[in-house]
Amino acid sequence: MLKEHKEVTTKSAYLILDGTTFELPVIVGSEDEHAIDITNLRRETGHITYDPGYANTGSCASAITFVNGEEGALHYRGYPIEDIAEHNGSFIETAWLLIFGKLPTREERQEFRQQLTDNELLHEDLRHHFEGFPSNGHPMAILSAVVNAMGCYHPDLLEIETEDEFYRAAAKVISKVRTIAAWAYRKSQGLPFMYPNPELTYCQNFLHMMFSEPYREYVPTPEETRALSLFFMLHADHEQNCSCSTVRMVQSTQANLFASVSAGICALWGRLHGGANSAVLNMLEDIRSGGGDVKSYIERAKRKEIRLMGFGHRVYKSFDPRAKLLRKAAYDLLETKGTQDELLEIALELAETAMADEYFTSRKLYPNVDFYSGIILRALNIPVAMFPVMFAIGRMPGWIAHWYEAWRSGVEKIHRPRQIYLGERRRPYIPMDERKKDGDCGC
Ligand code: ACO
Repeated sequence: MLKEHKEVTTKSAYLILDGTTFELPVIVGSEDEHAIDITNLRRETGHITYDPGYANTGSCASAITFVNGEEGALHYRGYPIEDIAEHNGSFIETAWLLIFGKLPTREERQEFRQQLTDNELLHEDLRHHFEGFPSNGHPMAILSAVVNAMGCYHPDLLEIETEDEFYRAAAKVISKVRTIAAWAYRKSQGLPFMYPNPELTYCQNFLHMMFSEPYREYVPTPEETRALSLFFMLHADHEQNCSCSTVRMVQSTQANLFASVSAGICALWGRLHGGANSAVLNMLEDIRSGGGDVKSYIERAKRKEIRLMGFGHRVYKSFDPRAKLLRKAAYDLLETKGTQDELLEIALELAETAMADEYFTSRKLYPNVDFYSGIILRALNIPVAMFPVMFAIGRMPGWIAHWYEAWRSGVEKIHRPRQIYLGERRRPYIPMDERKKDGDCGC
C-alpha cells in the first residue's frame, strides 16, 4: 500500500521563524525524489506555505505514474512508456496496468475486455439525453454532462464499498465513455447514432461508432487502429496534472466515481491543458493560411503576443517522451495512408526553428504531447472539436486509477488549500441609503 512507498528518512529540514527552529521531516520517494513534509507546519508555526499553481507542492503520495521532467522520462507503474509502445501494449492493457498496478495476465485481460464489451451500450433513456443538446453543443460539454448523468442510471454504484463495485463502475466508465464521445460527435453532425459492435476491439469499436453508417460499415485499417491505441495509451496518465488533481480533489469529498471523472473532463477542457491539441491544429492552419510564414509566428510568440501551442510543459524541461513517440507514429500513419500533410511539414519546421532559438531553449520550451497528436487525429479524420474528447477517453484510466488509489488509501482528508488574504480588513457595514457609487467621494 501507499504508506510503504512513503519513506521518512533520518534527514530533516530546519526552518527558523522569529528565532525559533522547527524540524521538518524529509520524505524520499521510490525514484529518490525528496520532499519536505509540512503536514504539521501550520499547527506548529502558525504559518502556511505560498505556492500559486502548486509547482512546488506534493499533494499526495502515489504509486501510479512517475515523471522525470529533466530527463524526459514517463513510467506507468514502473514501465517506461517506450517499452509499452515497443511491445504493442494496448490501451486496454495499459488501463488495467494503471488501475491495478501490474500487467494483466492473458485471462485477466480477456476478462476485462469482456467487461468492457458487456458495458458498451448506454441505457436507452440516457440516449435521450443527447436529444436535449443543441446540435452545435461542444462535445466536451456533452461528454462531461452525460458521464455525470451516468450516476443516475447506476445508483448502486454511487457509494462504492467493495472492490467488486469499484471494478464494475470502472469498467462501465471506460467502456461507455467511448460510446458517449462518438454519439456526441454524431449528434453534432445530425447523424444517426451507431450502436457498438461487440465483435470489435475497443479502438475499432470507437471508430465504427464515429464513422459507420446504417448502410455502410466503416472498417479502419490495422495501422489506424494501432495509431489510435497508441494515442490513448500515451494519454492514459500523467501524475498530478490539473485534471487528475481535480479528480482527486473531488474524490476527497467522497464524491462518486462518475461525478469525479466528469469534473476531470471539465478541467481538461481548457486550452492550457487538454484543449491545447485543438489549439495546435488551429495554429498550424493559421500559419498555413497566412502563407506558411513560420518565422514571423515565432517572433510573435517571442514578443508574447501569442503562445506557441503545443510547446512548453510545467514538468518536462526537456523533450516530452510522448511527443517523440507520437512524432514517429504520425509519420508512419501518413506513410501507410500514402498521404502527405502540409500541416505536418509546417509543424516540423516550427519545431525545428523554435528549438534553434535562444528564447525557447533558455526557457526549456520543447514540443509537448499535443504538438503531434493533432496530426494523428487529423489523419484519422477526427474533427478538431473532438480533439480534447479524444484526450479525455485516453485519460480516463488514469483518472480512475487515481480515484481508486485515493479511495483505497483510507485517508479521509478533504482537500482544502489555504490562502493569503489581500482584501479589505474588517470594516463597518454601510446601510443602503449611505452607499456611494464607485468614484463618488461624496464631496
Ligand atoms: N510559447 C511561448 N512562450 C512560452 C510558452 C509557449 N508555449 N510557454 C511558456 N512560455 C514562456 C512564458 O511566457 C514565460 O516567459 P518569461 O519567463 O519570459 O515570462 C516562460 O516561458 C515560462 O512560462 P510559464 O507560463 O511560467 O510556464 P508554465 O510551466 O507555468 O506553463 C504551460 C506551462 C501552461 C504548458 C505553458 O508552457 C503553455 O501555455 N504552453 C502552451 C499550451 C500547451 O501546449 N499546453 C499543453 C500542456 S501539456 C498538457 O496539458 C497535456
